[in-house]
Amino acid sequence: MALAKIVYASMTGNTEEIADIVSNKLEELGHDVEVDECTTVDAADFEDADIAIVATYTYGDGDLPDEIVDFYEDLQDVDLSGKIFGVIGSGDTFYDYFCKSVDEFEEQFGLTGATKGADSVKVDLAAEDEDIENLERFAEEIAAKF
Ligand SMILES: Cc1cc2nc3c(=O)[nH]c(=O)nc-3n(C[C@H](O)[C@H](O)[C@H](O)COP(=O)(O)O)c2cc1C
Repeated sequence: MALAKIVYASMTGNTEEIADIVSNKLEELGHDVEVDECTTVDAADFEDADIAIVATYTYGDGDLPDEIVDFYEDLQDVDLSGKIFGVIGSGDTFYDYFCKSVDEFEEQFGLTGATKGADSVKVDLAAEDEDIENLERFAEEIAAKF
């Protein structure tokens, strides 16, 4: 059994909801999961987990949400060698840079030594049936690494 830590930023609830979908699936697969809002934790807290997941929306013009910037910057200094990471997020296809924060975090995780456990999942606004399937598959792929 692995410990998964999911850290999220969510202003209107869409990203929190997709974090919960992944959390529920991982728990169903027998793993322990902690879900925390990004301002309540430090990037170094991922060191205590086997699976590190970030869920984030995108704001401004393809920008990270203000409240997750410190977490994002600190992540590059954390050694997550031997751990599995994944990134999910909600955005809006109306914008030029759809879910850009998801890509930013995927790059940032690349600096930590962690291994990508599944392709990132990007959701247009609130998760619909197909998104839920993608998110559950994301969780299954990550869980299969243990
Ligand atoms: C002012 C503003 C700027 C936004 N900019 C982007 C953007 O650049 N790219 C994107 O994909 N979504 C953008 N969005 C859409 C949000 O990411 C989207 O509504 C998301 O579902 C919000 O997640 P949340 O419900 O977890 O807060 C923007 C939304 C607002 C209100």
